[in-house]
Amino acid sequence: MQDVDAIVKEALAVFEGIDDPATLEQAKARYLGKSGALTELLKELGKLPAAERPAFGSRVNAAKERLEAALKERRERIRAQKLEAQLGQEALDVTLPGRGLGVGGQHPVTRTMERIETLFRSMGFDVADGPEIETDYYNFTALNQPENHPARSMHDTFYLADGKHLLRTHTSPIQIRYLESHRPPIKIIAPGRVYRCDSDATHSPMFHQVEGLWVDERVTFADLKGVLVEFLRRFFEREDLKVRFRPSFFPFTEPSAEIDMSFGEGWLEMGGAGMVHPNVLKNVNIDSEKYQGFAFGLGPDRLAMLRYGVDDLRLFFENDLRFLKQFN
Ligand code: FA5
Repeated sequence: MQDVDAIVKEALAVFEGIDDPATLEQAKARYLGKSGALTELLKELGKLPAAERPAFGSRVNAAKERLEAALKERRERIRAQKLEAQLGQEALDVTLPGRGLGVGGQHPVTRTMERIETLFRSMGFDVADGPEIETDYYNFTALNQPENHPARSMHDTFYLADGKHLLRTHTSPIQIRYLESHRPPIKIIAPGRVYRCDSDATHSPMFHQVEGLWVDERVTFADLKGVLVEFLRRFFEREDLKVRFRPSFFPFTEPSAEIDMSFGEGWLEMGGAGMVHPNVLKNVNIDSEKYQGFAFGLGPDRLAMLRYGVDDLRLFFENDLRFLKQFN
């Protein structure tokens, strides 16, 4: 029969050599389990003379306690070591270079809009803004298009379900909003998104416009031509660019013109313009005898199309990165 002390000595050595919890529990079973070495010893108890039994019993029990205590200590040690190792692995090396994010790029229409803003600012225009959801009043009525006016059907309007609001069909309502809250001299552009029920190679249901408005005591049609031709030549960086003013009709300007640019063999319409109609000035309580001015609405998507040589405007809004990446 193995001696109690020998078993304890052996078990302690075994426990010390183990560094994972599962193996440790297996080792425990070998000494303290149902048929473990110490348990087997206790079974021998009955064979001893009665006088020796108590002393032997308490030796075995003391040995058991000793091993339990050693196990507990070992378990804790293993857990601490594991934690230390984990902390060591997860440590941040703050001196490593960052992974970085892929460098994004601007949408060609955004770049075009920014370029337009820069050029007009350099000609003394401020930049104004307005809501995309408009009322009938700002989009039509105040712009000299009363209800049932035939010109309203020129725009295929998206109406909201409430029957009161619509998606603005042009940036011209910003003219009214700005004129209501400012007095001449006024010299602004107003870029933004507009919406029409419209779709082909040169028409998209959501597109952009840049409104222009210059109202003062002596602003003339000559100023309108000068500003727009200068802008287009600087935008396309071509002094010989051909621009055409074609007589047209808008209810909110008189006289009115359409601005075309030569484009290959033909012409492409870039925007509408004209002298602000006296009725528009009346609607915002500005004296139309004293003040006059011009307004225009350009199509920046078409400007981008021509500048980048794109033949279908809808490509800009399909969000296909293979297309968009070419511009960066
Ligand atoms: C207007 O919207 C007038 N508000 C412009 C204006 C402003 C005239 C101030 C006078 C004074 P028009 O509907 O023609 O006009 O549109 C102006 C420009 O927007 C067009 O010349 C074109 O360049 C662009 N455009 C119009 N519809 C679309 C569309 N569906 N997709 C892309 N561009 C469009």
